[in-house]
Amino acid sequence: MDPQQMAPSGPRKKRPRQVGASVASPPHDIKFQDLVLFILEKKMGTTRRTFLMELARRKGFRVENELSDSVTHIVAENNSGSEILEWLQVQNIKASSQLELLDVSWLIESMEAGKPVEMTGKHQLVVKTDCSGSHNPSFQKTPPLAVKKISQYACQRRTTLNNCNHMFTDAFEVLAENYEFRENEIFSVTFLRAASVLKSLPFTIISMKDTEGIPCLENKVKCIIEEIIEDGESSEVKAVLNDERYQSFKLFTSVFGVGLKTSEKWFRMGFRTLSKIRSDETLKFTRMQKAGFLYYEDLVSCVTRAEAEAVSVLVKEAVWAFLPDAFVTMTGGFRRGKQIGHDVDFLITSPGTTEAEEEQLLPKVINLWERKELLLYCDLVESTFEKSKLPSRKVDALDHFQKCFLILKLHHQLVDSGLSSREEGKTWKAIRVDLVMCPYEHRAFALLGWTGSRFERDLRRYATHERKMILDNHALYDKTKRIFLKAESEEEIFAHLGLDYIEPWERNA
Ligand code: CTP
Ligand code: MN
Ligand code: MN
Repeated sequence: MDPQQMAPSGPRKKRPRQVGASVASPPHDIKFQDLVLFILEKKMGTTRRTFLMELARRKGFRVENELSDSVTHIVAENNSGSEILEWLQVQNIKASSQLELLDVSWLIESMEAGKPVEMTGKHQLVVKTDCSGSHNPSFQKTPPLAVKKISQYACQRRTTLNNCNHMFTDAFEVLAENYEFRENEIFSVTFLRAASVLKSLPFTIISMKDTEGIPCLENKVKCIIEEIIEDGESSEVKAVLNDERYQSFKLFTSVFGVGLKTSEKWFRMGFRTLSKIRSDETLKFTRMQKAGFLYYEDLVSCVTRAEAEAVSVLVKEAVWAFLPDAFVTMTGGFRRGKQIGHDVDFLITSPGTTEAEEEQLLPKVINLWERKELLLYCDLVESTFEKSKLPSRKVDALDHFQKCFLILKLHHQLVDSGLSSREEGKTWKAIRVDLVMCPYEHRAFALLGWTGSRFERDLRRYATHERKMILDNHALYDKTKRIFLKAESEEEIFAHLGLDYIEPWERNA
């Protein structure tokens, strides 16, 4: 067993680096002086590692017993690039930009050939940065030091669901939420931006040095990072989590239809639990809040992907009954690859329909579900869309498309072919569903907007500040040329903005 691997290594303990470590097994002549190999034992096992090391040395390769500064190539088996990086980070070793991460197949082929074979993509272990299971070859194979400049805009970063910095981003999100509850928008945005940028990093921050060159990390933020690195937690976050106001707001806003204003009111009135609020006779609830309380348990338990797929079938069935040509696209978090969500979002659009047909679709769909007794709550918002209007300058403005916010009854038997049997009695689950109907020529903008996440905000910020353009869910306007830029797809919108295309699953900023 490699003693380096056996030694317990907390993130704070600095391991002395071995400079110019000994070359093992001198009896073998080294034929290839430029290569210094280290074979990773992780997932390979001691026996196989020893065997391969011995064999490689006999073939003239220089193989180190231990990882040292002189190593140029790490050879691994059954490990991904990110797993190796993670291992390096745990060892507290920062790989230099020259360090190559190679699959064992390269070593085996080289030994067969009697000389190092060319290192091609199939040998090189790149770090996985998306959740589609594919490897992104554009990603650098080297850890922190070699990372190229990170943009302050989320729309210039690829943010997948593989977040290596949960420790920090979870903390920032608590703080951001607390500031939001206290209506301190500036600090809230500070922490949200910090969380967003850390989510895009392909490595875990283990020391303050790693934060150098990363944008959006204000002093306030860095202090929290430092505390978490040193103590494993932040006292400020701990205090917020124990704060009565924070806890109450968190609880109250978990009810569908309850926002900051209502939470504030209930908190001031001295309420701390939902059951007290529910049973209070003097309180007046909106229709939305009544539904929120009625289906509370179902709505707080998140929507799974299987449930979302089942809802998708329901939506398509209903939409296609009236508009067979319509496109129905699941948007929101699920389109970004999330496995759970608080609701399921759909964008509906249809080529060659009249305005009247378009306007009638959602009411017809709602009516159909009502007749089938699937509609538990419905709020239909009529379109306020005027073609002549410029895109809104407000980054957070909602769009003008016709839409409905619903709660649907989803029968368990429709999910996973009814395989998962639930508790006796209730045979369905209440699910929040959002439907948006948009004119066909605006579909790319609507899709981009409704896919989210806050990524969207940054795209608008970027358009405004860097391109003198105005972007919203309907259109893109070039202020210099004074024209609307048309787009048939999201790719075209990115191209208009002069941005590299970012896939939906890379928009989890
Ligand atoms: N959106 C919007 N206009 C609204 C409501 C939402 O443009 N009136 C956009 C938001 O930018 C958001 C997306 O639609 O990114 C989906 O909204 P939401 O369902 O709230 O968020 P999700 O990202 O889907 O998160 P979750 O998985 O929790 O549902
Ligand atoms: Mn959603
Ligand atoms: Mn939604």
